[in-house]
Amino acid sequence: MNLVLLGPPGAGKGTQAQVLVKNLGLPHISTGDMLREAVRNGAPLGLKAKEYMDTGKLVPDEVVIGLVAERLRQPDARKGFILDGFPRTPEQAESLDRTLVQLGMPLDHVLYFKTSLPVIIRRLSGRRVCGQCNKNYHVKNFPPKQEGVCDACGGKLVQRPDDREETIEERLRVYEAQTAPLIDYYRRKGSLAEVSGDLEVEPLFAVLKSLFDKKVRSAGAGR
Ligand code: AP5
Repeated sequence: MNLVLLGPPGAGKGTQAQVLVKNLGLPHISTGDMLREAVRNGAPLGLKAKEYMDTGKLVPDEVVIGLVAERLRQPDARKGFILDGFPRTPEQAESLDRTLVQLGMPLDHVLYFKTSLPVIIRRLSGRRVCGQCNKNYHVKNFPPKQEGVCDACGGKLVQRPDDREETIEERLRVYEAQTAPLIDYYRRKGSLAEVSGDLEVEPLFAVLKSLFDKKVRSAGAGR
């Protein structure tokens, strides 16, 4: 299964991707995670990306496009993939189309997590991440056992620099201007499936699972 998770910041893409990884056994390709790792490692890519990320802007297309094209060519992606946070501009979407044609791997679903503004704000302002292993928490929805401490590795939980109120506003503005047009792009191609990002994690997974099952059944009926 070849999937793209599309939706505003805080829609729950990364959280649902973890559930999909467990259930489908596919690699999770998150450009946000790849860029944050490059920042942590002090890699040249990270130095270039940090300023854009911290201010809520998109990292330039030429940086991100190459990164994803290379990742999709790794052997583990041959069985399918979960792309999270990419594509985010029409240029990225067109480049992804070209890469997938070259690889002979068409998209099965572009899952659009339609999410209301109050939910987005609550999720982003309450998100905490482990500074050591990167595990994701939420102060109310998914709190750690001990406040401020990662259950998995004991690392300190911190707020992402781009989850500050003023940066959230900019990220939402950038999403509307540069990424939201992809909803129509994929709708026209017939690959868009709109789901409610407002749902809790398990009910949302149930919706996705029934979507996947339906696709498998209709592929079977067409044989
Ligand atoms: P990125 O990391 O991709 O950020 P994003 O798209 O803004 O998405 P988020 O990670 O904020 O949210 P999410 O939808 O994954 O929500 P999550 O599951 O964490 O990108 C960061 C930056 O990198 C960009 O701003 C840009 O600068 C750069 N970048 C990345 N990709 C790029 C690209 N392609 N081109 C150019 N630049 C790029 O959930 C949020 C919170 O809610 C968590 O606390 C979670 O526990 C909680 N939660 C999640 N789901 C639920 C649920 N269903 N119910 C209750 N709580 C939930």
